[in-house]
Amino acid sequence: MNPLRSIDTLVESTPTNRPVTSLSIHPAWLRITHWLNAVSVVIMVGSGWRVYNAAPVFDLRFPGELTLGGWLGGALQWHFAGMWLLAFNGLVYLGLNLASGRFVRKFLPIKPSVVWNDIADALRGRLSHADPRHYNGLQRLAYVVVILDLVVLVLSGLVLWKSVQFPLLRELVGGYEGARRVHFFAMAALVAFALGHLVMVALVPRTLVAMIRGR
Ligand code: HEM
Repeated sequence: MNPLRSIDTLVESTPTNRPVTSLSIHPAWLRITHWLNAVSVVIMVGSGWRVYNAAPVFDLRFPGELTLGGWLGGALQWHFAGMWLLAFNGLVYLGLNLASGRFVRKFLPIKPSVVWNDIADALRGRLSHADPRHYNGLQRLAYVVVILDLVVLVLSGLVLWKSVQFPLLRELVGGYEGARRVHFFAMAALVAFALGHLVMVALVPRTLVAMIRGR
């Protein structure tokens, strides 16, 4: 890589050894689905907290100011509206990622030794993210886990929404009450990811530019 060039003009080697200038980091469909997903997650978590407060599973309530919908009926309407956005947008993201082979290129392999070294580096404040075209081991693991977590959230949500229509799913998550717990802990994992994600983005702000402009 030519050190005099900015991150926008990273040089890649081609099979012919002719250098080409690679500008694109995130394709438009990825950026659109990412930001729609972020909006839907805010809607789902905010309204979900209000729905939870109406019938808490644990000895814990979420502050009303952080919730969405104003009251149980309003929150449920937000939750059902956000659910379509989350599910359809997620299907587009996953479908395009898998069909284009991008999922394998970007996220695999996930090597435990690499993830471990990245965690150690992150704890020492030395985790490198020099080339924003490639995710480090910790990012790969975090992104794949949160994608799976979203799948669990949607499936356990389906059980809560249409318990009778999805008997197999219902049994898999331990019945209706089991689904409430699975849904809750998957939400907690999602919120933990989002907080860590925002801290990492704040530490490396140029990744945010790439997720907005694509390059
Ligand atoms: C305002 C909130 C958010 C901001 C500012 C943000 C920002 C970013 C940025 C900058 C990247 C690229 C990281 C890099 O290139 O190193 C990224 C990737 C990603 N973010 Fe977010 N994000 C937000 C919310 C979320 C939420 C709520 C989720 C999921 C629940 C999420 C899931 C992901 C995933 C899975 C990727 C990898 C996407 C891929 O390459 O396929 N983000 N985000």
